[in-house]
Amino acid sequence: MLDELKKSVARSALEYVPKNSIIGIGSGSTIKFFIEALSTISKHVKGVVSSSYTSEKRLKYFNIPIIDLNTLDSLDIYIDSADRVNFSMEMIKGGGGALTREKIIASVAKKFICIIDKSKYVSKFDNFPVPIEVIPMALQSVSREITKLGGIPQYRKNFITDNSNYIIDIYNLHTNNTISLEEKINNIPGIVSVGLFCKRKADVLLVSYMNGVKIIS
Ligand code: 5RP
Repeated sequence: MLDELKKSVARSALEYVPKNSIIGIGSGSTIKFFIEALSTISKHVKGVVSSSYTSEKRLKYFNIPIIDLNTLDSLDIYIDSADRVNFSMEMIKGGGGALTREKIIASVAKKFICIIDKSKYVSKFDNFPVPIEVIPMALQSVSREITKLGGIPQYRKNFITDNSNYIIDIYNLHTNNTISLEEKINNIPGIVSVGLFCKRKADVLLVSYMNGVKIIS
């Protein structure tokens, strides 16, 4: 059921892929479906900037050219999913642990198209865990700082990011002032990036329901 919703929103995102363009893409199961959908129009795209080795592998499987972000001055479109999106189009991302590369590509892109199924669209983030990517030597010091903010840090076991770092999932964060929280967490030494995407939020949101895809912008 959820997979069907992910597939349909992935397919509907094809409309946002300009002809002869280079687009950025995220990671995760929704993006897995998007890459498959993209393969049906791959002749119309010059290539894709990928945010993870997993997405790269799938792009290669479908013979879709992969482009190094360093070779580009700008990027028109970034298409990615999220773990939660609130009614202000702010997101929690990083369930798949690719948040840092996703944040980099999102920051360069002129437009962020976020594709989700209805279960992720919420009025408030509530207690959904916020992931952070952490330099290994800072695991303990970062955990102490997170606790001071009222968060409960939980080390993600047996997981190493594509950048050779660790992930901590933070529970119990009060997400009322999301932008200030994102900044505070970002400023803790040892944190590479935080899965709050509130300063750079989605520009267009596609949400799939049983009876179709809703476009919010
Ligand atoms: C990966 C992400 C994903 O976009 C997020 O976890 C959603 O994944 P899925 O499409 O599998 O539900 O942020 O870092």
